[in-house]
Amino acid sequence: MRAVLLGTAAGGGCPQWNCACPVCTSGAPARCQDGLAVGADGVGWYLVNASPDIRAQILATPELAAGPGPRETPVRGVLLTDAELDHTLGLMMLREGAGLRVWAPKAVLEALDTGFPVRGILGGYGAGEWSEFVAGKEQEVGGLRVTAFAVGDKRPKYARSLPGVAGPWVVAYRFEDPATGGVLVYAPCLASWPSGFDEFTAGAGYVLLDGTFHSAREFGGATRAAGASGAQAAMGHLPVTGEGGSLAHIGRLRAERPGTRFAYTHLNNTNPMADPRSAAHREVCAAGAEIPADGTRVEL
Ligand code: MLT
Ligand code: MN
Ligand code: ZN
Repeated sequence: MRAVLLGTAAGGGCPQWNCACPVCTSGAPARCQDGLAVGADGVGWYLVNASPDIRAQILATPELAAGPGPRETPVRGVLLTDAELDHTLGLMMLREGAGLRVWAPKAVLEALDTGFPVRGILGGYGAGEWSEFVAGKEQEVGGLRVTAFAVGDKRPKYARSLPGVAGPWVVAYRFEDPATGGVLVYAPCLASWPSGFDEFTAGAGYVLLDGTFHSAREFGGATRAAGASGAQAAMGHLPVTGEGGSLAHIGRLRAERPGTRFAYTHLNNTNPMADPRSAAHREVCAAGAEIPADGTRVEL
């Protein structure tokens, strides 16, 4: 299995257009909003999340270039971890892709029918074949064995008032290549370290985790930088450092699983880890996690 990290920033990207915080003005290499491309055979590729940056991300990735026929693309489908705009707005940019398969949890499909009615909109363009991805039930996608794991029930702000929609609203995906035994886990939004997540990541060679916030203290900073939306954006993301933070879990698991690489994605623009020259970046890497740049490739 091969994977390309198309983007590694949270909603808004890094730098964010309306933010002059120390990270956004640091001159650090820009990060697109998070997304992954994964493929078993290097011919058919599946996107995990479709950020509003998706057109530029695809054009920057030779593996995803259109062809060999004049109207062919190796991009076969999209799996959604949630219904947030940073993970779904790109579906609009994929409207030319007739027959594109989209998999998502039931609540996400409902949100994309109502609060953000992209399913109906894309229907007018002939794009999109929508399927539910049931958490805990393995599905075959492009030669990979894929399992979703419920990690939270945070709804997008536009879907707050949708009545009676049962979760999960947020999942992580586990991809296993039966040919190589390679396993990759993609969990860009983790409200907590849920019970059963250790088992879900067992045997993985590469685990991508929610790196939105370096510390809980940053929540206030995000509020100031992003206005009223910041306080809400801060919810639903387990910080990297501090007691019970994801880095402590990585430390614990690395001791048992020396073969597993752990990496952070979905970095908020206020997160000092986004700048490779920062002390936060150095310290997190010294603690055994990776903070990959956009375009990083992994083979498993
Ligand atoms: C999140 O990850 O919490 C959301 O994408 C926030 C947002 O709306 O940008
Ligand atoms: Mn997000
Ligand atoms: Zn900023």
